[in-house]
Amino acid sequence: MTSQVIIGNWKMNGLVADARTLARAVADGVSSDTGPRVVVCPSFVHLSTVAAELSGSAVALGAQDCHHEGRGAFTGDISAPMLADIGVRYVILGHSERRAGHQELDEMVRQKAVAAASAGLVPVVCVGETQDQRAAGQARDVIGYQIEGSLPQDFAGIVAYEPVWAIGTGQSASIDDIADMMAFIRAELARQFGEGGKTMQILYGGSVTPRDASAILRVAEVGGALVGGASLKPESFLDIVRASA
Ligand code: G3P
Repeated sequence: MTSQVIIGNWKMNGLVADARTLARAVADGVSSDTGPRVVVCPSFVHLSTVAAELSGSAVALGAQDCHHEGRGAFTGDISAPMLADIGVRYVILGHSERRAGHQELDEMVRQKAVAAASAGLVPVVCVGETQDQRAAGQARDVIGYQIEGSLPQDFAGIVAYEPVWAIGTGQSASIDDIADMMAFIRAELARQFGEGGKTMQILYGGSVTPRDASAILRVAEVGGALVGGASLKPESFLDIVRASA
């Protein structure tokens, strides 16, 4: 059985000293014995600091975005090869905060996923519906289109389902809602990608805390968690890691 993946998305938080302390605490708290794969995704400017702290540990390094081109005149952007070069192994793409705040569309996310895979990174592509879309009964359509538009045909990465309405609220989606959407996403992946879609790992994200992690991580088709706020507190994040199968 594939082990679950627990990813901490630190978003735009902390200064160098905070990143160093947090990375050290996570590295010390995760053993290399069989357990979930654990990944932390600091901001770009903290990647090298965190890479040094994680060196020799069982925790992998991830980034929160990358550009779709490998190099060139793209002021302010960071390429996938640059990330791979400093030890990054995973990259979150198409997070709802980037879709909303940086107008990232499915096609752009798809191109980034291609670039990430060519650089040897594991793309973690986020999908999720807003409260309005959910209220209008469009959740499944939205997710179906996001999967179709954001994942390249030869996608071999991870999909993260993050209902936008649950992010940062402290209240995750209900177990029934998660189970329902996970089953739908699995069916969509299988429909769109055939055999590959049957085994693609699907994470849940959206206010995962130690309180509900155990129940969420035991829902069928949940292959791990993408954790925001709780990943900034080492004890909370490690409790979530321990709650994994
Ligand atoms: O990518 C993680 C995420 O958006 C969830 O954030 O703070 O609700 O756990 P949070």
